[in-house]
Amino acid sequence: MSSNHRVLINTEKCIGCGACVSDCVSSCISIENGKAKAGGEGCIACGHFEAVCPEAAVVLTGFEEESEGFNAQTRLNPQELMKAIRTRRSIRNFDTKDIDREIVDMIIEAGRLAPTGSNAQNTGFIVLDKSKQELERNAVKLFRSLTGIAKPFSKFLSRVEIDDNFFFKKAPLVIVLTGNSVNASLAAENMALMAEANGLGVLFSGFFTVCANNVPKIRKTLALKRGEKAITTLVIGYPNVKYYRTARREKANIRKV
Ligand SMILES: Cc1cc2nc3c(=O)[nH]c(=O)nc-3n(C[C@H](O)[C@H](O)[C@H](O)COP(=O)(O)O)c2cc1C
Repeated sequence: MSSNHRVLINTEKCIGCGACVSDCVSSCISIENGKAKAGGEGCIACGHFEAVCPEAAVVLTGFEEESEGFNAQTRLNPQELMKAIRTRRSIRNFDTKDIDREIVDMIIEAGRLAPTGSNAQNTGFIVLDKSKQELERNAVKLFRSLTGIAKPFSKFLSRVEIDDNFFFKKAPLVIVLTGNSVNASLAAENMALMAEANGLGVLFSGFFTVCANNVPKIRKTLALKRGEKAITTLVIGYPNVKYYRTARREKANIRKV
């Protein structure tokens, strides 16, 4: 646990129920003399002890936000969720209409709240702002030069046209996620779902992510630190395309062992 955080136990409020002990992943909390006691190395500051305490007796300090109480966890309707998943499409044709600041914040918030291995919370969100056009121009330049070389080897590249909007498709919002691949991907999917819940469409731009990691000029504009990796790029905007039916998919590759 980072030194910014401390576990505070209010022994007046603690009823010694042990819910925090049962829910602690790293055995960093115990019951002594009928009261919770924090201690030991290895706490990952996941905050479960705070979330699970019925008496609000345990607090993890050092965050800008407060813990919010709630009575019942909100569950999405499974049929509605499946329908949303089934009818989602990658969007490659966007309206240029801007996205309200509150919606952008909500999308990033959905990413921030995604689970991270060992509670690392190590996903970075780079929102392309003034440099968006310049970044796309540089990426387009590179791809045009590369496709010349790669065309004889790739059927896809021999057909694809690298137009000026090849990467961002005129979408108003582009966010590059950095960090650990699993963590950033989970954040990205949360963000995509939140964007779609707000009527937006999303494209994961693998092509731009390749540029972000490999073109020094682009790395520099993105202010990527040495060793810092772009994991994925979310291109987000209001769709300028309508789908009428689902796209067929292969059967799930399921193995029972
Ligand atoms: C990690 C990842 C990277 C992708 N990169 C691109 C990309 O650079 N350009 C593009 O047009 N589509 C990209 N796609 C979209 C895929 O082509 C698309 O998901 C796939 O064809 C299935 O279509 P659907 O998303 O509509 O189901 C990417 C998708 C993923 C998951």
